[in-house]
Amino acid sequence: MERNFKRTLITTALPYANGPVHIGHLAGVYVPADIYARYLRLRGEEVTMVGGSDEHGVPITIKARNEGVTPQDIVDRYHKIIKDSFEELGISFDVYSRTTSDIHRATASEFFSRLHKKGEFIEKTSMQLYDEKANQFLADRYVTGECPHCHNPRAYGDQCEACGTSLNATDLINPKSAITGETPVLRETHHWFLPLDRWENKLREWILEGHKEWKTNVYGQCKSWLDLGLQPRAVTRDLDWGVPVPLKEAEGKVLYVWFDAPIGYISNTKEIYPDSWEKWWKNPETRIINFIGKDNIVFHCIVFPAMLMAYGDNYQLPDNVPANEFLNLEGDKISTSRNWAVWLHEYLRDFPGKQDVLRYVLTANAPETKDNDFTWRDFQTRNNSELVAILGNFVNRVIVLTHKYFEGVVPEACDLEQIDKDLFAEVSAIKEALTQNIETFHFREALKEAMNIARAGNKYLQETEPWKVAKTDMKRVATILNVALQICGDIAVAFEPFMPFMSRRLADALHLGKLTWNELGSRDIVKPGEHIETPELLFEKIEDDAINAQIERLARIKRENELKNFKPAEIQEPTDFETFSKLDIRVGTVVNCEKVKKSKKLLRFLIDDGIGQRTILSGIAEHYEPEALVGRQVCFIANFPPRQMMGIESEGMILSALNADGSLSVIAPTAKVVNGAQVK
Ligand code: MF3
Ligand code: ZN
Repeated sequence: MERNFKRTLITTALPYANGPVHIGHLAGVYVPADIYARYLRLRGEEVTMVGGSDEHGVPITIKARNEGVTPQDIVDRYHKIIKDSFEELGISFDVYSRTTSDIHRATASEFFSRLHKKGEFIEKTSMQLYDEKANQFLADRYVTGECPHCHNPRAYGDQCEACGTSLNATDLINPKSAITGETPVLRETHHWFLPLDRWENKLREWILEGHKEWKTNVYGQCKSWLDLGLQPRAVTRDLDWGVPVPLKEAEGKVLYVWFDAPIGYISNTKEIYPDSWEKWWKNPETRIINFIGKDNIVFHCIVFPAMLMAYGDNYQLPDNVPANEFLNLEGDKISTSRNWAVWLHEYLRDFPGKQDVLRYVLTANAPETKDNDFTWRDFQTRNNSELVAILGNFVNRVIVLTHKYFEGVVPEACDLEQIDKDLFAEVSAIKEALTQNIETFHFREALKEAMNIARAGNKYLQETEPWKVAKTDMKRVATILNVALQICGDIAVAFEPFMPFMSRRLADALHLGKLTWNELGSRDIVKPGEHIETPELLFEKIEDDAINAQIERLARIKRENELKNFKPAEIQEPTDFETFSKLDIRVGTVVNCEKVKKSKKLLRFLIDDGIGQRTILSGIAEHYEPEALVGRQVCFIANFPPRQMMGIESEGMILSALNADGSLSVIAPTAKVVNGAQVK
């Protein structure tokens, strides 16, 4: 592959330290970035992957306020969880730091000062929302209200999550303070703005002319921003959490989180390479790749590049920004605040030793070109019928056969037959496609190609049938198993970027040292004479129980959310007592209750109504065990005309309350009353 660069700096979006990371973050940013970094390292390239926690911003201060702790407590807690869980998943950061570090604060502060001295900002006094009860300005997420574009009633002061538009707090219709719930007032305040309009032409040229190769989702989003025309953006806020604005006249103000966070990429590089960091940022022979999710595109393709150009000093712009779309969970948008997520640290606890399975499934379903869905059933199927049945099965067969026929020692290959050569040719072709796909950030396709190596291996064993040949020609068996072992070696290399834990175990079993991409497809990765260890099975089946537990957890969360977000229906048209009193509502005791055959919903009640017994059908079978209702009093409408349902006559209607989650609860008097008592 021709290279017009000497080294690659990989940056990964800094996750907010207001919660743990979830599978959406992983699929969108960290797993692809890690695949790419590992691949480049296997090629022997000079590469650095930087990451860190984004520890400023309003959501962190809101969370701290809600919990009665300091913002620093919040970020300390989540930074640790995030960092540890990334490490356990094998995300191979060269540095994972945080934006509350001294080096970051100093770097961000200096960045602002230089832009200020160079006259790169404009200053404006404007009206901002102010909460008079809390005595503070309400920036960004401190305000909620109705989105002026899509009329979502729960839009935030910086963005509407329903339609994705980025907003100013003052755009919101009917704004409310997230701190006190009060309607804010407008108050004058002074801020520094980065005039993006000054950079518009340069940005147009750089992206629209210079980077037509970017992913269409990224290019398209940039184009529509640029076509709308760029406006100055405030880079300071009236808040007490963040990097203080380094100007005397800016007391009580901090840098906007989206101003300081991307500078974190620079600070983190400085942290590992205090003396040589500049070669990663200011040298055109370095190629910078930003891995991000789609909601970050404008900041990485427009705002941060404008900041870097304004700074000057030969700062390099990103070469590519392979942003992904979103991963959904079981059909719904992942949400930290609604707890609708699979949290990485919980996954690692619930599925110990199965890091690679998650990495595999998230790559196979990566939202590279459109939003995609993660489901637990799919997770199970991919593990059981791909990792276990194809990949694990192949490697296991080869190693078992090597032990059976050669006491575990790698046999020499004799003359290759056509079928052996065909297999090697196939692997070479796969390698080419695999390489090409990784180089162009198509990791899903790349993973499919890697799987094709195992598929080809299985087919080869099926066709050569060494267990049959063993009866007549051990020399041929030696060749077949040598070839098959080379394929195992190929698997160790090809999957290293995707499933590093499996790859290392396999490489150790095969006595391979440091893996390199070059060896992939060569015919002598695994050396004759080496004694192959029998590794534990590379993958094991995931049983229904483990999956059902996860599905039940999500169902519970969904129910809790429905209860939390319940909005009572509008009050109906006015009516009067006369209308009400026409309904004869009475209390009776359930004498018998059973399921109606062939019906999912209906229960058949026998009710003692004080006069005699009546049969009533009620659609609550999904919410009650019939026996649990026997002996209890219920309320029913006594003067409805009889009605046939499922061939049974129902004489009335049992009253129930409809809960937010759709469940029904029968209405009963709080103390025992006589059967036939009227409800007034
Ligand atoms: N914290 C931001 C988010 O989660 C991403 C920040 S990326 C950086 O959306 F470039 F600003 F660091
Ligand atoms: Zn909206």
